[in-house]
This record gives sequence, C-alpha cells and structure tokens, in this order.
Amino acid sequence: MESHMHVGEDTATIRGLPARVGDEVNLRGWVRRHRSSGKVSFLVLRDGTGEVQCVFVKNDVSSDTWERLATVGHEACVAVTGVVRADARAPSGVEVTASGIEVLGPSEDFPIQPKEHGVDFLLENRHLWLRSPRQIAIMRVRDEVIRSIHAFLHHEGFVHVDTPILTGAIGESAGTLFETEYFDLGTAYLAQTGQLYVEAAAAALGKVYCFGPTFRAEKSKTRRHLTEFWMVEPEAAWLDSEGNMALQERFICWIVKRVLYNQREQLDILGRDISKLEAIAPPFDRISYTDAVAFLQANGSKIEWGADLGATDETRLVEGRDKPLFVFDYPKGVKAFYMKENPEDPRTVKCNDLLAPEGYGEVIGGSQREDDHDRLLARIREEELPEASYDWYLDLRRYGTFTHSGFGLGIERTVTWMCGIDHLRETIAFPRMMTRVTP
Ligand code: 4AD
Ligand code: MG
Repeated sequence: MESHMHVGEDTATIRGLPARVGDEVNLRGWVRRHRSSGKVSFLVLRDGTGEVQCVFVKNDVSSDTWERLATVGHEACVAVTGVVRADARAPSGVEVTASGIEVLGPSEDFPIQPKEHGVDFLLENRHLWLRSPRQIAIMRVRDEVIRSIHAFLHHEGFVHVDTPILTGAIGESAGTLFETEYFDLGTAYLAQTGQLYVEAAAAALGKVYCFGPTFRAEKSKTRRHLTEFWMVEPEAAWLDSEGNMALQERFICWIVKRVLYNQREQLDILGRDISKLEAIAPPFDRISYTDAVAFLQANGSKIEWGADLGATDETRLVEGRDKPLFVFDYPKGVKAFYMKENPEDPRTVKCNDLLAPEGYGEVIGGSQREDDHDRLLARIREEELPEASYDWYLDLRRYGTFTHSGFGLGIERTVTWMCGIDHLRETIAFPRMMTRVTP
C-alpha cells in the first residue's frame, strides 16, 4: 500500500464539495463505478458522505496515473486529487476534474456486481451488500428514526434507563425464549422486553424508557419477524390507556416528520411515495377489538371473538385508511399477563396495538399495567409462570402501587414502513432470523 497523502484534515468530504468549487481537493473513498472510453475515464467515488464523479482525461494526467487507473476495481479504496467543478448535470451540482489517484486498498472481483442477485446471495454477502445505495439509504433512515425517538422522549421529559439483556423472568411469552446456562443459577433468558424493569424505574423517575435489542425465538419466517430486533419501550406513571394512545400518536407523528424533513434524499433514493408519509397527522382513528371483529366478520372474515388478529385481518382493518389505526382492549387470552383488566369488560384488558397503514401491520404494542397485587398474582398463576421469579415485580404492587402504562415500538417495523420496503431484514445491518445467524 503506497500513500503519500496524510489521512485526516487535508481530506475533503464529498458532501462538502459544492462549497469548494475551484479548489484542488484530496478525496478518499471507495469506487462505486468506473468506466473508461480510452481517452477519458469516469470514476464514481463514494466516501460515506456522498458520491461524486471524478473525470480523468488521458492527455491531462501523467502516464503513471493513467496506467494505475486501469487497475482500479469496483469497490477498491482510493485517494483522488482533483479540482472541483460546478456541473449542473451532476446530482450534487459538482464533479471533480482529477489529476491523480492512489490505490489504498485494491479490490478484485467484488462479489456484488451491478446486476440482479438473489436475496440469499446478498444476505450471505451482507457485509459487502451494505455498501449499496439502497442499503446506505435505509441505514440513514434508521439512524434518523433512532435519533428522533431519543429527541422526542427527552422533549417529553422521559429518562433513558438501560435494562438487562440476561434476565431471570419471562417478559412476554414462554414459547419464544432463548435460553442460556447461567453459572450455578440455572437458566437465564435473553430479554424479550425490558418492560418489567422500566416499570420499576418508572416508580423512581416517573417517565422512563429503555431502548435495546430484544430476542424472540419466533419460529416464523414472515417478512415481519426477526429473532433479534430493537425496541424502544417508554413507561410512564399516571398514564392510563387513553393517555398511552395519545402519547403514541404524538410519538409516531414526530418520527415521521423528522424522517421527512431530514432524510428526504434517502427516501427519494428508495423510491418512497412521500405523500403516504405526509398523510400521517393526528388524530388517528381508534377501534375496539370487539368492533374490529364485528367489522371483519361483516367483511367475510371467519375470525371469532377471542382469537388474535392475523396479518390478513390487520391488513383488512387498515384498507382504505391513510393513517395508522389503534385497535384497543383485546381479549385477555391473547395478550400478556401484565395487562390491566378492563373494569368495564373483564374479558378484555386495557391495551392497544397500533397498525401502520399500507399493510405494514403492528408497529406498537402497548398497555396499561395491572397495578393490583392480587389480580396480577392470579394472572401469573393462570399463565403458570414461575411465581418466584416475579416476586420482585409483585413488590412494585406491594410498595406504592401506581397507575402506569407504556408501550413498545419495533424499530425495524417502523423503518420498514418509513422506507416503504417489503421485508424487515434490510432494516438492520446484520439481520438475525430463524435461518440466518451469519455474517
Ligand atoms: O407487542 P410486543 O410483543 O410488546 C412488548 O414486548 C411489550 N413489552 C411492549 C411494552 O409494552 N413495553 O412487541 C412490541 C413491538 C411490536 O409491535 C413490533 O413492532 C415489535 O415490537 N416486534 C417485533 N419486531 C420484529 N421481529 C419480531 N419478532 C417482533 N416482535 C415484536
Ligand atoms: Mg404485540
């Protein structure tokens, strides 16, 4: 590896080039595309901040440079020197008239070529696939979603609390646990949720949230399920189910606005229909589970009261709607043990799912928590959960129990919806699914 340039301050960023017209600059990056006509060579350079075309004219560069250019492969890492020129035809308004190039990291036969590849091949090469424009756009949208989540929650007075990933109590359902031996203490589980822990923290801080990876050994190969996904879980004291839905509505509108405002360019790269996101504004419609079932039955579904809504039911419920839809107060039997019994209809619990439009399905699951010690204990027994590991959780109802609610928003489902893409697997850098744990 030869290098006569310094790494660092004298290297310009591609994003900053429009302000450098007329200057000679040094750039570093990877070669997106490269073609040569024999007299002129066009090299598209990508440095993480953007892309720019660098033009080498054979008669204007040294013969060394021209020869070196011929060895530059797709995705090689290079340093280019040249003068920034305004060019109205270029997407960023500039191109570079290049005078020199050095190959810092050669690349021969890059596995991903500019042609159609099967998704298995791309997933196998996920570490390289990440460099493609579509994947870069998705990662930037994800980053924006995450930033906007932290900004919103801090704006609303929530405090970020980290919850454990190795846990002793089952958070959601016994059927989808990853287990691991834990020294002399028996079995530990990878967290399905941080919720039980943020409930404890809410009694200390009032409004809190955790944000981390969660794990579900889901034996489903749908486009909506990962075995490792990221979830943000706000939890607030004095919030009831109604207030919880209002909070979710503000939350979603904030995220969508920020993505639209800051990542318009990436959404364009993804071909996202912007008008679908622009339609997301309060208020969102709310329908009870019971009314939803009646609606579905009237529209040909065979669903019976008491059953969970399937993906097709969810799609039918949002059909013709341009905003998310709250479905609230589900039957006890299809929801987790910790949800508060509905005083007006004890067959149901005070909870909600939020269904995204365009068939993206459930992006949020939330509920008011059971704050009565005896009812909660009865539910733990009904579900045959190991009582001893919930002793600390029951303490929250023994010592100053309080009305509280919270919810979990799935990051990958949200990013999939923002990007308008089909499958969750592209919204996380290294997806974990039933059939994939590498790279
Ligand atoms: O509805 P869920 O299971 O709710 C909870 O875990 C609660 N403890 C949240 C809370 O009240 N604090 O999951 C919440 C969200 C879902 O709406 C979905 O967006 C996402 O997490 N999710 C998944 N995302 C990807 N792959 C999976 N296997 C997912 N399971 C849930
Ligand atoms: Mg759910």
